[in-house]
Amino acid sequence: MAICVTGGAGYIGAHVVRLLARAGHEVVVVDDLSYGDAGRVGAAELVQLELADTAELPRLQAALDGCEAVVHIAARKQVGESVERPAWYYQQNIGGMANLLLAMQAQGVDQLVFSSSAAVYGQPSVDRVEEDIAPQPINPYGESKLVGEWMVRDAARAWGLRGVNLRYFNVAGAGWEDLGDPAVLNLIPMVLQRLFEGRRPAVFGDDYPTEDGTCLRDYVHVADVASAHIAALDYLARAERPFDAFNIGTGRSHSVRQVIETIGRVTGLDVAPEILARRPGDPAVLVGDVSRIEQVFGWKAEHGLDSIVESSWRAWQAGPKRIEL
Ligand code: WQD
Repeated sequence: MAICVTGGAGYIGAHVVRLLARAGHEVVVVDDLSYGDAGRVGAAELVQLELADTAELPRLQAALDGCEAVVHIAARKQVGESVERPAWYYQQNIGGMANLLLAMQAQGVDQLVFSSSAAVYGQPSVDRVEEDIAPQPINPYGESKLVGEWMVRDAARAWGLRGVNLRYFNVAGAGWEDLGDPAVLNLIPMVLQRLFEGRRPAVFGDDYPTEDGTCLRDYVHVADVASAHIAALDYLARAERPFDAFNIGTGRSHSVRQVIETIGRVTGLDVAPEILARRPGDPAVLVGDVSRIEQVFGWKAEHGLDSIVESSWRAWQAGPKRIEL
């Protein structure tokens, strides 16, 4: 039986697809290729369609024929854009999930690993956030992920879906040189982009109530994130599944300054930053408590910040914006 990966041509999805293929699974990728790249899916079958388009339901259902499980990663994921275009985010992320669940039920596919996000937590006032804290997303992106989790829960009640929600923290790095993050939306790619342009890295605020004044995050290597999906699929096969949400992080925190310093050490470049104003909506601290996933899945992130930055740098240098040293 095959495994369907929606968003399998994207940054995280392509890592999951490659890991599944290497473990001997047949993989079907469903992706609209709006950001994804067909060249990233390897030998997997690629079905190009827009999940949120209800007219595509028959093709989606056909794509699921012969699949035993779905890993649902396809989504719009830009926080700022979600604030500007909330209805479109709901249509895309919630509409896409609705169509996927309809197709899965119709096809009798009853296992789902859903890519949720630490964005469901909003701005928690704890140092390490546990899964059972009441979620309070602060933007439509996070809200759409939380609603997606509710849809998984409701389908479980209604027709016996076996689902698990993986709440990713700050995913970064590259498991393979050709699978680096092609978008420049997060800290490490944004720093490398500015260095490529001959500019200084930007720090969005150094007056937060943290040791060095910059925000703390839980950076998790995309290769570890991919392996968590394999562990989640194993979990779904078990008879007892006491939990439906899991943090995917390291439980360790790094400040923006520490990340930029690591980039300086790894690249040998001058990374003296420029301090800019705070970016609206950034929580000072967002770090995951990862005890649940360690205990229940037996999964633990293997990579630390050095490995994340080193792999990001190798992938960046293998791409079109190589920085001459
Ligand atoms: C990290 C820290 C910035 C760039 C976002 C989404 C989240 C999830 C992951 C999608 C922050 C600071 C950044 C720069 C900086 N999204 N920064 N200079 O905001 O923690 O999480 O991506 O799935 O839902 O909100 O990640 O990488 O944008 O920022 O100082 O040039 O780096 O202010 O403190 P974030 P990020």
